[in-house]
Amino acid sequence: MRTAVVTGGSSGLGLEFVRRLLRGGARVVAGSRRAESSEALARLKSEHEDRLTVHRLDVGDRDSREAFGRRVSETLERLDVLVNAAGIIAGDEERISVFGALDQEELARTFLINSIAPLMMTELLHPLLERGEHPIVVNISSLNGSIASWDRPGKYSYCASKAALNMITKTLSVELKDAGIRVVAFHPGWVKTWMTRDEPAPMEPEESVAGMLRVMDSLTLDGSGRFLDWRGREVPW
Ligand SMILES: NC(=O)c1ccc[n+]([C@@H]2O[C@H](COP(=O)([O-])OP(=O)(O)OC[C@H]3O[C@@H](n4cnc5c(N)ncnc54)[C@H](OP(=O)(O)O)[C@@H]3O)[C@@H](O)[C@H]2O)c1
Repeated sequence: MRTAVVTGGSSGLGLEFVRRLLRGGARVVAGSRRAESSEALARLKSEHEDRLTVHRLDVGDRDSREAFGRRVSETLERLDVLVNAAGIIAGDEERISVFGALDQEELARTFLINSIAPLMMTELLHPLLERGEHPIVVNISSLNGSIASWDRPGKYSYCASKAALNMITKTLSVELKDAGIRVVAFHPGWVKTWMTRDEPAPMEPEESVAGMLRVMDSLTLDGSGRFLDWRGREVPW
């Protein structure tokens, strides 16, 4: 049975990964800051009691990550899929990411959650991934992290943190190649989620995640370390 860990599992793309992986027959551990209160995860748990485990996880907190890692090790003997979906965009991006009014703490927080946490989660769980079957680490990046495509001012924290995540993805792919672990950064498309609640995002999470799962399944170890969109098309770094 395929095994998976998903961070940010209680909403948006993370929740859809949990749902689809369960539907595909996988054993899933979902990490969420709202492990106890998420109605969506509670509903899935009632449908897949034996294959879904939900643990509290704040990806930016070392103690929380370590406690989560211990609980994952108690639940799974090996790990095939790690989806780093947790991510933030500063609630007040217009204010904190505008040149002339930058906020050091908010910038650091965005880097912690979007760039550093996926790296730390991968380091934490890599012993289990090494025992996985055709294992893969999926980092949910963004077109906003594509330096080659960027031509706008502002949005420093989100864009730079996703560009850093792309570099981390590439480096991890080299680091983990001998262990047979694939690593990929995805631009999921412009998707209707809580994060994009004020934007006219055209795509449903179902379409985005179904696409990413298809691409993941066809990705070879030689194709590891790439930046792809949900359809499998190369995104310029
Ligand atoms: N939607 C899009 O169009 C789009 C486009 C490009 C990239 N992305 C990326 O896709 C990923 C998922 O975002 P989404 O669109 O699905 O938005 P979302 O519904 O807001 O999901 C974000 C998730 O991240 C979790 N999270 C935030 N900080 C966390 C922390 N410290 N510890 C643990 N979990 C934390 C949230 O958990 P809580 O429920 O606990 O807050 C939530 O589950 C993000 O990395 C985002 O940057 C989205």
